[in-house]
Amino acid sequence: MKVISIVGARPQLVKLAPVAAAFAGTEHQHVIVHTGQHYDADLSDVFFSGLGIPDPDVHLGVGSGSHGVQTGAVLSALDPVLEAEQPDWVLVYGDTNSTIAGALSAVKQHLPVAHLEAGLRSFNRRMPEEHNRVLTDHCADLLLAPTEEAMRHLANEGLEGRARLAGDVMVDICLQIRDAVLAGKHPAPALPEGIDPAQPFLLATLHRPDNTDDPARLSAIVRSLAQLPLPVALLAHPRLVARAEEHGIELAQGSVHVSRPLPYAGLVSAVLASSGVVTDSGGLQKEAFLLDRVCTTIRPETEWVETLEGGWNHLVPDPHEMAPAEWAALATRPAPETPHGAPYGDGKAARRVVELMEQATPRHT
Ligand code: UD1
Repeated sequence: MKVISIVGARPQLVKLAPVAAAFAGTEHQHVIVHTGQHYDADLSDVFFSGLGIPDPDVHLGVGSGSHGVQTGAVLSALDPVLEAEQPDWVLVYGDTNSTIAGALSAVKQHLPVAHLEAGLRSFNRRMPEEHNRVLTDHCADLLLAPTEEAMRHLANEGLEGRARLAGDVMVDICLQIRDAVLAGKHPAPALPEGIDPAQPFLLATLHRPDNTDDPARLSAIVRSLAQLPLPVALLAHPRLVARAEEHGIELAQGSVHVSRPLPYAGLVSAVLASSGVVTDSGGLQKEAFLLDRVCTTIRPETEWVETLEGGWNHLVPDPHEMAPAEWAALATRPAPETPHGAPYGDGKAARRVVELMEQATPRHT
């Protein structure tokens, strides 16, 4: 079996790591195509080196652009690659512009598509990712769902025949790196100046267009973080830095200390050192959950609804509209006493992904 993985953005590289490792233990040929959607070293290269992922076989180098420009650039660069490679499967990950472009290029060439992390839904049609994931699920041949909830969404859309419960490959990598961090195999993460990892602090990220692109909203959210009673280590995504600069918003104010995004082991280690997480990232909500840290999510909804059970994750769409004391109490709340279950699987999902792909009969033959 020849499989082409198409990746391009940071969260896809994290998911690729366990999948590449699972393929490495088989006789299958696994080809990695990097679209170049993320190109900064700290959003891309450090994940390959830090997670032991083989270098991409093909790099499309598309870079940033509007949704149409970026998606179109991936599509047109990918067509000749897939045509030449003629894989048995094209494997796309998550919900980025690289995902939908990969799926479209493949199905139009009658190449079977498997979608990893299928069936997630926010039901928020303002999110570019919601369109990417719905459209990808509807054109893919094999839907590798991370959770029972995702399986239900796929069934509701009439896609159960193509859906398989694989579990979540992020559990595989997160727990593996957690164990390495706890065994002292990684250096301490580069936290922002002013954050003492031995003292309580919150770890924060913010990058969703709905939070970053409206200057009034971004400024209000940053002020809410600045007023928190604990130091906040804000790992600033380039989109956040670009929007803040554009609108003259100072990120480093009050409690907020800013630094660049961390490599994966650094992030896991920072979550473990923190007393809690404040974020709008899908991946980080789940990493906080897997690492037993409370998360406060600056969004009106989440695809990872299992994290909400027992209060491990809490949604706060507009922190600036809450009474400051209430917001502070929520963001700095202690971890629930009741441990959470394991709704995201047992850490062996990547192996199952390979098996499910082996078992599935391609539709386009
Ligand atoms: C993308 C995904 C999002 C995912 C996120 C993870 C889409 C629609 N969104 O959002 O689902 O959660 O990745 O990070 O695919 N930039 C750089 N350097 C880079 C990459 C981006 O400076 O290496 C800046 C550019 O100003 C760019 C902006 O960040 O315009 C946004 O990048 P883009 O790839 O369009 O989307 P993300 O916000 O990263």
